[in-house]
Amino acid sequence: MKLYLAPIQGHTDDAYRHFHARQFADTDIVYTTPFIRLEKGGIRKKDIREALSPLNEGIAVVPQVIFKNYEELSALITLLKAEGIRHIDLNMGCPFPLQTSRGRGAATIASEECINAVERVINENDDVRFSVKIRLGMKDDEWLPLISRLNNLQLEYITVHPRTAKDQYQPDTLKMESFDKIYAMSSNPLVYNGDIRTPEDAKMIMEKYPDLNGVMIGRGALARPSLLTEIAGGEEWDHAKRLEAMKSLHRSLISYYQENLIGGEHQILSKILPFWEYAEDEIGRKAWKAIKKASTMAKYQTALTLIE
Ligand SMILES: Cc1cc2nc3c(=O)[nH]c(=O)nc-3n(C[C@H](O)[C@H](O)[C@H](O)COP(=O)(O)O)c2cc1C
Repeated sequence: MKLYLAPIQGHTDDAYRHFHARQFADTDIVYTTPFIRLEKGGIRKKDIREALSPLNEGIAVVPQVIFKNYEELSALITLLKAEGIRHIDLNMGCPFPLQTSRGRGAATIASEECINAVERVINENDDVRFSVKIRLGMKDDEWLPLISRLNNLQLEYITVHPRTAKDQYQPDTLKMESFDKIYAMSSNPLVYNGDIRTPEDAKMIMEKYPDLNGVMIGRGALARPSLLTEIAGGEEWDHAKRLEAMKSLHRSLISYYQENLIGGEHQILSKILPFWEYAEDEIGRKAWKAIKKASTMAKYQTALTLIE
């Protein structure tokens, strides 16, 4: 089974992916960029840097696009193709109202116009490999027409996060019975995504769904960056080893930001504090709160000493 690091806007940027891949170089991991979108007819500069960053070199990185219709999707594919990109992930699952209210992300799942657009663009670009990342729908199970149409196409894989957009990322809202149905019905390879936090969680999914192409992990891997390697090795690391790997990854990122950001301490802190956002269970509440509040590098370093 393949292992995928989920795209998380504001976290898994090019530097994060690069240093994560370096830290865990003995594990094969596929990385997806946070979504790239059109703005005023072109791709935003920041997004282009994401897709074409020299930091992507030597690692498996799949650029992801978000779109609301054929015109947007086709323009994005044309622009990325011109840069030599040959595997593109289509975001049909983003639940953020800023995107769904404009007809993008999860709003595309039940849209016949969008399904037609996806089919047309895939058929028009047979030199590009496509994967699709979905949720179940906006408010309910709306995936049936989409999955049956996608069955007519040859995709690399479909990543399924079995929640609706309405559920955002709320605990206890995964609908595994819907995932079961998609698993039974999809003729395209499936990647499971959602709430995997431990090697045991991943093992249960892999055993229950042996025909999966792989599992994709987001917040669980930000909280515990060694998680994918632990899963690959079939062995849970002890807490001290996990923390050391996490701190080592963060040290590499801090050095990188110190060399490459011009904004000084505040800008560096604004980059590194989010690394810990999902790690409360892993590091303990006291340290987690102190890290969150750290307003200088010195306070940040002191906060790290509180990790249990
Ligand atoms: C802050 C945030 C930003 C995200 N950005 C993206 C994104 O750009 N593209 C995407 O496909 N999914 C995005 N996701 C969804 C994740 O890729 C993933 O599907 C979700 O976190 C569920 O997986 P997990 O339970 O392993 O975290 C984002 C999630 C969060 C919390």
